[in-house]
Amino acid sequence: MKVEVKKCSPSSFRGEAVVVCHFEDAKKLAGAALELDRQSGGILADLIRRGDFTGKHSQVAVVYTRGELPVHRILLLGLGKKKEFDLEKLRRGFSKAARSVRELGLAEFAICLDPAPESPGLEDMTEAAVEGVMLGLYRFTQFKTAERNGLKEVRRLVFLASDGREATRMKAAAAAAEIVSKAVCYARDLVSTPSNEMTPTDMVRRAREAAVSGKVRLTALGPREMEKLGMHALLSVARGSMEPARFIILEYAGGSRGDKPYVIVGKGLTFDSGGISLKPPEKMEEMKADMSGGAAVLAVIKAAAELGLQLNLVGLVPAAENLPGGRAYKPGDVLRSLSGQTIEVISTDAEGRLILADALTYAGRFKPRAVIDLATLTGACVIALGEDVIGMMGTDEELKNDLRRAAVETGEKLWELPIWDDYAELIKSDVADMKNTGGRAGGAITAACFLKKFVGDTPWVHLDIAGPAWLSKERPYIPRGASAVGVRLLLRFLRDRAGTKRQQ
Ligand code: BES
Ligand code: MN
Ligand code: ZN
Repeated sequence: MKVEVKKCSPSSFRGEAVVVCHFEDAKKLAGAALELDRQSGGILADLIRRGDFTGKHSQVAVVYTRGELPVHRILLLGLGKKKEFDLEKLRRGFSKAARSVRELGLAEFAICLDPAPESPGLEDMTEAAVEGVMLGLYRFTQFKTAERNGLKEVRRLVFLASDGREATRMKAAAAAAEIVSKAVCYARDLVSTPSNEMTPTDMVRRAREAAVSGKVRLTALGPREMEKLGMHALLSVARGSMEPARFIILEYAGGSRGDKPYVIVGKGLTFDSGGISLKPPEKMEEMKADMSGGAAVLAVIKAAAELGLQLNLVGLVPAAENLPGGRAYKPGDVLRSLSGQTIEVISTDAEGRLILADALTYAGRFKPRAVIDLATLTGACVIALGEDVIGMMGTDEELKNDLRRAAVETGEKLWELPIWDDYAELIKSDVADMKNTGGRAGGAITAACFLKKFVGDTPWVHLDIAGPAWLSKERPYIPRGASAVGVRLLLRFLRDRAGTKRQQ
């Protein structure tokens, strides 16, 4: 989809449709809606007076202008109550409006935003509107051979700006939001792609795409190189599969030479059958999404380069397939990790922490400013917090606070769980330095305690995205299935850390 900004008043805009907003508790029409109403002899006020449109959140009314205005249709969008209004309401509302536009079969539409003094700023509102539209219209159609051709697509979105200065501000915001939204859709595509077409080797191929910018360098290690380094935790997980493990390293240099990089690590389990500790068959197909963290890392690196963020960033994706083959690793096995620490395998289904262990150790090589990992790590996290919520555990207060703040802004839900030292007792092993499970109780936390042993002193946060990465029901601007959770969160965090809070 193309996003544009045009200096044009709503009443002189010529096109198929324009979306204008109305608050539920507004006494009368305001801004663009008021202007259109005045120029059309009151077609919008009539709708409200007769009670057909209240302005409750996400309500959409299609009004035909019948030659009273150059635009053919007005979509009146309800934004709910003024004091409850925020960017998330805007995303949700515009997602709904965009879907209405698509249902009407229109290829393009315009949006008028008129921020009131008490509402979020024009740039923020523009970004939220672009996200609502682009993310709300997303569909995964790659394998729909028959339906694919007949699908209606919205191709163009035009923001109407009232003057040149406003247009300049909106253009920068729209461009940034377009990059971010495309990255989200990119990650959703990777996650939705089934494991027969998304093997660890395929992930390397996709990483090459993410590294098209000259500022990103890709290194992909294969089994032989990993063997030499001693990444036996990662290698062991892949042993039951014919698909070789890969370790993806993406380096983006947007900062000064000596700046310590941020390192983001994503779990790249392209399929998790559980291995010898085989999972039950119900919903096992959803385990193609066990590389959601890795997909998010690829998407974030890609977008960071496109945004030209002024910082150094490294993305690490340990990628493997967990199957119960003849050479598979087994419960009771003891693995020597890259860190030198030994791990007793209790369950081969607790494989995520094993591949992350070696990746987190490897992260230390970059002397990072901070390390953030994203992983669909535990069912226990979903039990603790529900399907919508990212579980956050980590060692650095400032990092945690900044991520909390970023999550509030992007509308991603995030909640902290503690990683007190006492929990580490639960992963003590009789034969090795630790074991890879700590029992059912506090399972998300014992997993984090395990990871912590491989991090060292670097400020670190672990984000367990097992719940929100794959959604069983659609949300306002997230379809059922792959959500690409964490992509907007990390980009918001990195843009804030890069200094200039906006338009990066
Ligand atoms: N990939 C799963 C976690 C998961 C579960 C993600 C449900 C998304 C939805 C992970 O590898 C796993 O199997 N974890 C085990 C750990 C247990 C064996 C300690 C789990 O959560 O059951
Ligand atoms: Mn597993
Ligand atoms: Zn897994």
